[in-house]
Amino acid sequence: MSKSGSHAVLEREKKASETMTDLSSDAVAEISNALRPLLADVFSLYLKTKNFHWHMTGRHFRDYHLLLDEHADQIFSMTDDIAERARKIGGTTLRSIGDVAQHQRLKDNNAEEVTPKEMLLDLRSDNLQFTRYLRSTHEICERHNDVATTSLIENWIDQTERRTWFLSEIVKDL
Ligand SMILES: [Fe+2]
Repeated sequence: MSKSGSHAVLEREKKASETMTDLSSDAVAEISNALRPLLADVFSLYLKTKNFHWHMTGRHFRDYHLLLDEHADQIFSMTDDIAERARKIGGTTLRSIGDVAQHQRLKDNNAEEVTPKEMLLDLRSDNLQFTRYLRSTHEICERHNDVATTSLIENWIDQTERRTWFLSEIVKDL
């Protein structure tokens, strides 16, 4: 985004927040700007998890296929809460797949041939990295005393650590 473009977004966020919340306009801008890439990461992790659910192969097909579906459901369930936290405080959020691509930090995997082990390792690494993003977003929200968002994030960290745990245990044997 150009400098003037991002300035305009910041100004808009500040204006919208004036009537919506007791958080300061700077807090709204900072929190919304942290939630936006977080949401983009969730969509990219969701689609990668579904991609591997769909393209899984091998003798553990059933186990892995089902596990990744559970993980995908859990990941998808974060999306609405993240977007609506931004809206509730008067900020804005993602509007399109193009927006996701622009803001995501986790990398896509478009490879045609991915072994089950590579899939699980890729997901483990993404989930681990996603926990770091959750923690850094938590720090920002905590600084502004946005306890509603920190509380959601604390649950998402627990869920993400659980996904990472399962993936870590499984890849030990592969
Ligand atoms: Fe399915």
